[in-house]
Amino acid sequence: MRSSKTRCIGILTAGGDSPGLNAVVRAITKVAMGEFGMRVLGIQDGFRGLVENRVMMLDDATVSGVLTRGGTILGTSRDKPHSMPMGGRLMDMTDAAVENARKHQMDCLVCLGGGGTAKNAFRLWQKAGINVMTLPKTIDNDVFGTDVSFGFDTAVSIATEAIDRLHTTATSHHRLIVCEVMGHRAGWLALHSGIAGGADVILLPELPYDLEKIAEFLLERRRHGKRFSIIAVAEGALSRREAEAAAKLKDKEKDKKKAKDPDRPDKAEAAPEAAAEGEAVDAYRADLPLNVSRLHDETMAYHVVQEPMASRLARHLQALTGVEARVTSLGHVQRGGVPTAFDRTLSTMMGAQAADLLAEGRYNVMVAYRNGLCVPVPLQDVVGQRKLVPADHHLIHCAREVGTCFGD
Ligand code: F6P
Repeated sequence: MRSSKTRCIGILTAGGDSPGLNAVVRAITKVAMGEFGMRVLGIQDGFRGLVENRVMMLDDATVSGVLTRGGTILGTSRDKPHSMPMGGRLMDMTDAAVENARKHQMDCLVCLGGGGTAKNAFRLWQKAGINVMTLPKTIDNDVFGTDVSFGFDTAVSIATEAIDRLHTTATSHHRLIVCEVMGHRAGWLALHSGIAGGADVILLPELPYDLEKIAEFLLERRRHGKRFSIIAVAEGALSRREAEAAAKLKDKEKDKKKAKDPDRPDKAEAAPEAAAEGEAVDAYRADLPLNVSRLHDETMAYHVVQEPMASRLARHLQALTGVEARVTSLGHVQRGGVPTAFDRTLSTMMGAQAADLLAEGRYNVMVAYRNGLCVPVPLQDVVGQRKLVPADHHLIHCAREVGTCFGD
C-alpha cells in the first residue's frame, strides 16, 4: 500500500447524468482503495444525498462491472446545498451538508459534474471550509479549463449516428430535416456531430443565424440538384433578432444590478473569458427552460412561445423554401447508453489521476484534460466561466471550407 495524506473521501455525481460517470467512480474507488487504502464513500443523488446523509461504502465489489454502464450508480440531482427545495421551500442546507461530511470524516468531497456542480463545490470550500475536488462531466463540453469533458464523445457519436440515419430518409423523400441536439448554451455537440454527420447547415448559439440566408443556401443546393438537406441545430441556437433582443435584455439587467450595487465589478473585467461572444444568450434564457423561447415580434413585445426551437425553424424554412420539412429532436437519447471507448479511457485516466492527487493532499482543484494528459487546475481559475465555441474556431473554418452553412 502506498502512503496517502487522505484517509477518507466522499464521491457524488451531480447535475445531468452522462456516460462515463460510472467509469470515473470505478477508477477513483479502485485506485484510492486498492493503491492507497482510503475509505471511499458514495453519496446518493448528488448534494441532496449529502444533506440527507444517504451515504454508502464503495469497494471493489460495488464498482465491479460498471465501466461500461451508462447513467450513474450513485444517482444524481440538480440540487444545490445553499438553495435546496425542502418541504416546499428553498432552504440553505449548507450546515447539514458540512455536518454530514464531518461526521463521516471525509477529508475531501469529490464532485463529478459540470459547471453548476463546480460552483456548488467551490462554495462549500469557500463558505464552509470543506475540501473539494471536481471532475468535468457533461455532454455539452462547456466546462471551462479542460479540453474535453467525459460524456461528450459518447453524445457526439449518438448524434452523428442519428444524422447519418436522417440522411437516408431525407434523401428518399427530398426533404429538409432539422435535427436538434443538446448542448445547453454551447454549440460543441452540434458542431462536432454536424461535421461528422455531414450536416449541410449547422446552427450554434455562438453564431446567431439569419433565416433568409439559410433558406437561400438550401434553395441553391436544390438548384444544384441536391433535393434534400440536413440542418443540425443546437438547442440553444438563436436567430440574429433573438440574439439582439437578448443583448438588450442583458444590458438592461446589468444596468439594474449596477444601480442596486454601484461597486459591483463588471463581469467582463472580472473574467474576460466569460464575457465571450454568446454570453448575451445566457442572460436571455437564464430564467427559462431551454426550448421555451421568448420571441421578439414586430411590435417589440416579448412573449413566451412553447414551441421547440427546431419545430419553429423547420416551419419557417418550409415556408421560405417551399420544401417539405421534418423535425427530429434527439433529447435525452444523447445521454443514455454505454460510453464510447474514448470516454471510458478518459474517465479511467481522470479517476486514477484524481486518486493520485488526493493521496498527495492536493485539494480544491479540478482534474482537467489538457493536451492528452490529466492535470490539476485550481478551482478558482475555472469556476463561473463557460467554454463556448469561439467564432474563429478551426472546426468552424474547416466546416465552412467543405461548404457547410452556419446561417451567419
Ligand atoms: O447539461 C446536460 C444537458 O443534457 C443539456 O444539454 C440539456 O440542456 C440539459 O442537460 C437537459 O436537462 P434535463 O436532463 O434536466 O432535462
